[in-house]
Order: sequence, then structure tokens, then C-alpha cells
Amino acid sequence: MKITDIDAFQIYDSRGYPTLEVEVTLSNGIKGQGMVPSGASTGQFEAHELRDGDETRFKGKSVGKAILNVKTEISGALAGKSVFDQEDIDQTMIKLDGTKNKSRLGANAILGTSMAVASAAAETKDVPLYEYLGSGTGNLLPLNEIQILGGGAHAGWSNDIQDFLAIAIGAKSYEESLEIIHNIYHSAGEIMKERGKCVGVADEGGWWPNYTSNEEPFQVFLDATERAGYIPGKDVSISLDIAASDLYREDKYHLPLDHKSFTPDQFYALLKSWCEKYPIISIEDPFADTDVTNWKRFTAEFGDKLQIIGDDLFTTNKNRIQVGIDQGLANAVLIKLNQIGTVTETMEAIRLTQNAGWLPVISARSGETEDAFISHLAVGTNAGQLKVGSFSRSERMVKWNEILRIKRQLKGKSTFIGSGIYDRILKR
Ligand code: PGA
Ligand code: ZN
Repeated sequence: MKITDIDAFQIYDSRGYPTLEVEVTLSNGIKGQGMVPSGASTGQFEAHELRDGDETRFKGKSVGKAILNVKTEISGALAGKSVFDQEDIDQTMIKLDGTKNKSRLGANAILGTSMAVASAAAETKDVPLYEYLGSGTGNLLPLNEIQILGGGAHAGWSNDIQDFLAIAIGAKSYEESLEIIHNIYHSAGEIMKERGKCVGVADEGGWWPNYTSNEEPFQVFLDATERAGYIPGKDVSISLDIAASDLYREDKYHLPLDHKSFTPDQFYALLKSWCEKYPIISIEDPFADTDVTNWKRFTAEFGDKLQIIGDDLFTTNKNRIQVGIDQGLANAVLIKLNQIGTVTETMEAIRLTQNAGWLPVISARSGETEDAFISHLAVGTNAGQLKVGSFSRSERMVKWNEILRIKRQLKGKSTFIGSGIYDRILKR
């Protein structure tokens, strides 16, 4: 089945900013689509998102150049190729682009095409996307990491820590994990409204708070868990995304909400005290992507007690992940398709992570679309964890709901090990 045409057009993401949808057409008439997400707290080592930069239109955010690149250069280079040669197709686009970070054609142009090719291939084989991506070996339903409270760049810096997420570690089934989170999410909303702390929902659907200190959200989280009838640390644990690169300037970590700045040593001590005081099971980007000393030290001290995830540190880049593995910088990797820009490289990053005995966490971006590709990626690769923001807004819910659909499609063949996934990295 050969590619005959590739088209692209501008759509809008969950923040109402332009992004693109790519449509691949095959000689059998089958079409596949891919929609490209977009981050706000992006890492400096990410592949390049090409935007037009014309301030008179869409505040510079339109993606006309990326769309043109799909329709002309990319379409021309891929016409006639077999849709099943995903690796060759992705390599062709990487070579055609010719830069280190996909800045010429745009990682958004390349990723949209790469996703659309995979979707068209699955459609041609008449199998679900998870089955195609995992060559039929994927059946593990993920443990969800779900944001309860938003912050940082996703909530107007109302609170310095980007994400307070819940992981239903006591859940025995995928459905139960959603029920637990449902109850906690809504309890947290009630509590925040009662205390006059709720502004609305943040970019990823978690409650947008109005706090006076960075420890306040911990208390809200614990109160919400208890109000919903669960035991913190037994049924549900806290997961934090510190997004620390955003807090780090001139050799210091800054927490404006607390009117404090910290040297790297002092920030280490602060995070250590939080990890000892609260039922935290997972922590993402605890330090800036340049503060390698602290990553290493933290992993040496907490690497068998906590999941330590590199997001901005690794940017789904296998060379960076390999350095992390060699130097013991973390024990888990956040996986975002658009950080690297092709399906093939994303799958390689997942495999490298798994082969090292680390855990991949498949993740959405803060700017999302109605595309549920990542739900299929999570099951197809048996990644075991999925992070999609919160428990509201359809661009988030579509991903959680898609796992329910996949479970039905897998019939009795799906598995759920829940927090058992952590047995691979933690001593508990
Ligand atoms: P982003 O945030 O998509 O804005 O980068 C998500 C994250 O930091 O995990
Ligand atoms: Zn992150």
C-alpha cells in the first residue's frame, strides 16, 4: 500500500492556538490523520516547533510554513513509499530536514506526517492502532497520573509547582483507578471553592488555584483524598511535576509565591523534606535540565523509593536518555512524541528506557487535541503509565476514555498491574 498524497491544514489546539492536522492518502484510498500537540513549559533540548512568527496573524503562532512543508517537500519525498515502512519514512524526513532539531521543516510538520502514516497503516491492516504499533504484543492498561491542581506556566504562575497529580496506587482495575481519581478531583474542587481558593481550571484541566504558599496545595490534596474516603499513601499517592527548569535562573531556584530563592543545595534539601513529609511516589523534573549534579545525587538517595522522571532533562531524545542511564540521573522517562518529532524515534526512546530497567511514562502536552494516539502508544508498548493532565476537558478525557475502548477491544486479553509497575524500579 503506497502513499499517494499528503495534505495538511491548520486546526486549533486546546488553548485555542493554531496547530496542524496532517492527512495521508494511500493508493487503496485509505486515509490516516495525525494532530500535533504543543507544550508551554518546553525544554531547551526539544525538537523545533515551526511557527510563522508573523505578529500580525495569530500572534505569530500560525503554522503555514509547516503546512507548506508537508504539502510540498515532505509529500514529494514520501510519495510512492509503502505505508508500512514507518522507519524508512521517518528516516527520510529526518534526512530531508537535515538539521539536528528538525528546525528546517519543523518537528510539527514531521510528527503530524509520522502519526498520520502510522494511523493509515493500522487502518489498512484493519487493526486498532495499539495493535499495529506494538505488533500485537501490547495489552497492559496504564496506571494513570492525573493532575488535580495546576500551576506554573499552566496557571498563570498562581503557584510555583507545575503539577500536583494523583496516582491511584491501590486501584485493582483501570476502571477503579478512574473512579478514585474522579472522587478526589471533585472533592478537591469542593474544598477549594469552600476555602475561596478556586479560580477555575488550568490549561490541563486541574484546578487553577489562588494560594499563598507552595505547601498549601499539599494540604488541599490530602484533605481531598480523605474527604473522598481514601487513605493517602495507601490508596492514592502524590506525584509532582516540579518543572524545575522554569524555576531556575542565575544559579538559583526561585519560588516567588514563598518569596524565597534557593541555591541548588538548599532546593535539594527542600524537595527532600517534602518527599519525607508527604506521600509522594513520583517526582518529575525535580531539578533544572542543567543541574546534573543534583539529579545524580537525588537518584542515588531516592532512586529505590521514588519514581524520578526526566522530562525537560531527556526530551524523549535517545542520546540524552542514554547519558542519563550511564550516569544514573533518574529511573523514568517522560515520553512526548513532539519533543523528538517522529513515531520511530519515540518508540526507540521507549524501548531504550524499558531495556535499561527504567519506566517510560507516556505523556500529553499542555496544548492538546482530540487525537488519542498516545493512549494507543501506551498500550501498544506496554509502557505501564500514562500522564494526560487532569480529569476534565475533552482533550484530556478522550485519552482516558480511549483506554476504556481499548480494553473492550482487547476483550479478556488486557492486563492491569497498577502500581505493580513500580516493582521494576522501587523497593517497597
Ligand atoms: P508542557 O507541560 O506540555 O507545557 O511542556 C507538560 C509537562 O511539563 O509535563
Ligand atoms: Zn514535565
